[in-house]
Amino acid sequence: MTKDLLESLQVKNGAFSNVAIEGHGYITFPKLKGTLGPRMQFNGTEKIVWSLNDYLGLATNPEIHAIDADLASRYSMAFPMGSRIMSGNQDEHELLEKELASFVHKESAILFNFGYQGVFSSIDAILKRQDVVIYDDESHACIIDGVRLHNGKRMSFKHNDLVDLENKLSRAKALTEKSNGGILVISEGVFSMRGDLGKLKEIISLKPKYGFRLFIDDAHGFGVNGNNGAGTGDALGVQADIDFYFATFAKSMASTGAFLASKKHVIDYLYYNTRSQVFAKALPLITTKGAIKRLQMIKNGDHLRKKMWENTKNLRIGLKKAGLKIGEGDSPITPVYMEGSLAEARNVLVDIRENHNIFCSGVIYPVVPKGVILFRLVATKNHSTDDINETIEAFKVISDKMQEGYYL
Ligand SMILES: Cc1ncc(COP(=O)(O)O)c(C=O)c1O
Repeated sequence: MTKDLLESLQVKNGAFSNVAIEGHGYITFPKLKGTLGPRMQFNGTEKIVWSLNDYLGLATNPEIHAIDADLASRYSMAFPMGSRIMSGNQDEHELLEKELASFVHKESAILFNFGYQGVFSSIDAILKRQDVVIYDDESHACIIDGVRLHNGKRMSFKHNDLVDLENKLSRAKALTEKSNGGILVISEGVFSMRGDLGKLKEIISLKPKYGFRLFIDDAHGFGVNGNNGAGTGDALGVQADIDFYFATFAKSMASTGAFLASKKHVIDYLYYNTRSQVFAKALPLITTKGAIKRLQMIKNGDHLRKKMWENTKNLRIGLKKAGLKIGEGDSPITPVYMEGSLAEARNVLVDIRENHNIFCSGVIYPVVPKGVILFRLVATKNHSTDDINETIEAFKVISDKMQEGYYL
């Protein structure tokens, strides 16, 4: 019997069903109000916010606001109309691409309307059926979706596990010797949940033996790591060995949009073959010109990064001193780990929000193993000493309560 398609489209049958039903509007789809930054309103009360990837504080930078307002009054969101291939291309798109490419030490770059789309669509454009793709199993959903579009062989390797990667590479080599295809390895500069860096140096050391190309999504490293914020590849001294360097404007740039940088002939190819961009409206001029200004601020932003790292360091030292188990990693993302059931995860999140006025994301299975609760704290340049100290104190209290079984 043919089923009515709509019948199966129930929240209980979909992703996040465990929290989507009870937690909608609170755990999922919460509404933070007021000025973007470390103190915002949630459910009518001020909270200390650790959930924004506004690493350098550009979201509230008055210069950025003035520029965005001026651009909006001159162009509106409309300009330009149409896809770049047809009618939407402007000098500013090309100028921004040139500046981004030069900043991340690549020959050329292509813009995307947003990061998710840019990643999945460029992976789709890069791979042919005879190619093999190997990706870190903690990759962001946009990488997984790009890989899903590949109609050839795909394999994942255990997160940052070089032994597993090498096993997969030797299988890929055998397969591609027969298929006459290439091998693409995909990882991230900074992993967005745990805040640890991809083992780029170690991955790259396997290149001569297996002859693969490397795609790095550096959404959380761009603007933050490396000289003047040129990214994680630059920080680790391996930028030249990253064949596809990707970053979004949604984090340190506090905007929307994204880019991929590579060799000129590759970008020329992607200009015509990245379907989700070829057949979509171009990035508005507000965003493009705004990104040119933001890029300048990132390049000259050592003082912003210094404050952000200081805050990250103080938060980490304080949490450790208070006995919390935190993840290590050279990024402003600090995961705090606790152990507990799904019910405990929900109860502790409510307690920290309602009684300690801390707003952070709580992550559970399947993003982390069953029984683990990960609190994700993103330090930014704008957090204050009070924000940090109050948060450390709150975590100490909830961690003690968790151990006493208070949240059962
Ligand atoms: C690692 C990573 N890649 C890509 C994206 C998607 O970026 P955007 O928000 O610009 O679509 C994100 C955003 O969460 C991310 O964390």
